[in-house]
Amino acid sequence: MVNICCIGAGYVGGPTMAVIALKCPSVKVVVVDIAVSRINAWNSDQLPIYEPGLDEVVKQCRGKNLFFSTDVEKHVREADIVFVSVNTPTKTRGLGAGKAADLTYWESAARMIADVAVSDKIVVEKSTVPVKTAEAIEKILTHNSKGIKFQILSNPEFLAEGTAIQDLFNPDRVLIGGRETPGGQKAVQELKNVYAQWVPEDRILTTNLWSAELSKLAANAFLAQRISSVNAMSALCEATGANVSQVAHAVGKDTRIGPKFLNASVGFGGSCFQKDILNLVYICECNGLHEVANYWKQVIKINDYQKSRFVNRVVSSMFNTVSGKKVAVLGFAFKKDTGDTRETPAIDVCKGLVGDKALLSIFDPQVTEEQVMRDLAMRKFDWDHPAHLQPMSPTATKEVSVCWDAYEATKDAHAVCILTEWEEFKSLDYKKIFDGMRKPAFVFDGRNVVDVDKLREIGFIVYSIGKPLDPWLKDMPALA
Ligand code: UDX
Ligand code: UDX
Ligand code: ADP
Repeated sequence: MVNICCIGAGYVGGPTMAVIALKCPSVKVVVVDIAVSRINAWNSDQLPIYEPGLDEVVKQCRGKNLFFSTDVEKHVREADIVFVSVNTPTKTRGLGAGKAADLTYWESAARMIADVAVSDKIVVEKSTVPVKTAEAIEKILTHNSKGIKFQILSNPEFLAEGTAIQDLFNPDRVLIGGRETPGGQKAVQELKNVYAQWVPEDRILTTNLWSAELSKLAANAFLAQRISSVNAMSALCEATGANVSQVAHAVGKDTRIGPKFLNASVGFGGSCFQKDILNLVYICECNGLHEVANYWKQVIKINDYQKSRFVNRVVSSMFNTVSGKKVAVLGFAFKKDTGDTRETPAIDVCKGLVGDKALLSIFDPQVTEEQVMRDLAMRKFDWDHPAHLQPMSPTATKEVSVCWDAYEATKDAHAVCILTEWEEFKSLDYKKIFDGMRKPAFVFDGRNVVDVDKLREIGFIVYSIGKPLDPWLKDMPALA
């Protein structure tokens, strides 16, 4: 029996290991974490992350060949393959602050592996890290190894939240990077054997270490770039009367471009895109490639522009002031089907509106009040540190309340802002919402979820990203 241990029971480690356990009954998988509450949750009926299909997978394997534990050292010692899936936030201070990846958690995990190991191990880099991290980790391991042999592999994870289980069951590709030595190639083959239990051979790509590490950063940068490209177009559509959905559809029909990932939005969020691009930018700068760095920086600048453009639309449409006005915010997670709020555009939009003295009433089907308050009280870049390490700020904002129902959130509001594309927001009773709101009643749809014509018929003034403007909005040009 192969023993696998995964350090880090987060959004990546938890679902990935659960699927490995399900698909490989002959492999024993233990997921370990220093966060006791997180491990307790993994061992309970209320898993610490919301992910469609995850409960069923965990139920089928937990206690059989899938275990969750805080006894990090014991399980690392027993493992043949150790996945490292700890968080790699952006550095908040020191050299490269705001850009470089903070590898503190990674380094401490590597040192611990070297300390406790009594047999040879394959160490798999699962969290996204800067290119050449594997080399640094390899040095830590070999300099502390006491004669034990370590092989380092890079096996970046491409799952997206909300569809993690489907993505893991049926990945576009699995990427395994390793050393081009006989030992390195043997380790690649061992990991390949695990995935080959359910992934077709031709989708398992093997490369050298650096290519695997860079491919992950590149893939996320390309995806984010598509969104910034369509979002840039959305601004031009609003200015010219074109419809961004029609433009995206027509563009995506070109098979060289493809139809996916072209939905205009209030901006991309999530723990990966911004962090990975910042990382890429930092690596380019360190290599003297300033033009390349500037090219990728622009993807983030457009994303920030899109968020502030949205806030400006809200404020300018409502007579240039939202001071003291109740504004309902529907959706706080960074995308639908997840409770994750890391880097969600909702944080910047809400802060922007509160900055203009709006009174927010927020509803998201999966995000707790505590999480919303913590996010709105945090400084930028603090978001990626694990919640259990974050003190709750005493300045948690009093202009914000959190509701458990869209109708309650919108009652007596002047405006509704839709910031996450939850399916349930499509089928709300907008007539009922309209009747309960102050007039004129505004809807600002940051995700193109509502039927604009239908809402206008009800009486709403509607703004939808990249769609032809309501006559009202044409008369109220966005603030500079
Ligand atoms: C992303 C990558 O997709 C995944 O391969 C990688 O492993 C991790 O980063 P994730 O951040 O979980 O996954 O979700 P994703 O579906 O990529 O969405 C990221 C953000 O882009 C979300 O805020 C989403 O709403 C936004 N988005 C996505 C758009 O605004 N428009 C789109 O067309 C697609
Ligand atoms: C382009 C569009 O493809 C076409 O749809 C439009 O109608 C006219 O403009 P064209 O300029 O004829 O067509 O050729 P295309 O194949 O797009 O190549 C344009 C340039 O990009 C060439 O110099 C080509 O060598 C280069 N290219 C293309 C690359 O450098 N790398 C690639 O992967 C593809
Ligand atoms: P991701 O989205 O990449 O999965 P998360 O932040 O959700 O990231 O998960 C990372 C997990 O790694 C956290 O639960 C954190 O407690 C855990 N972790 C960080 N450092 C260590 C360590 N040295 N040992 C064990 N677990 C760790």
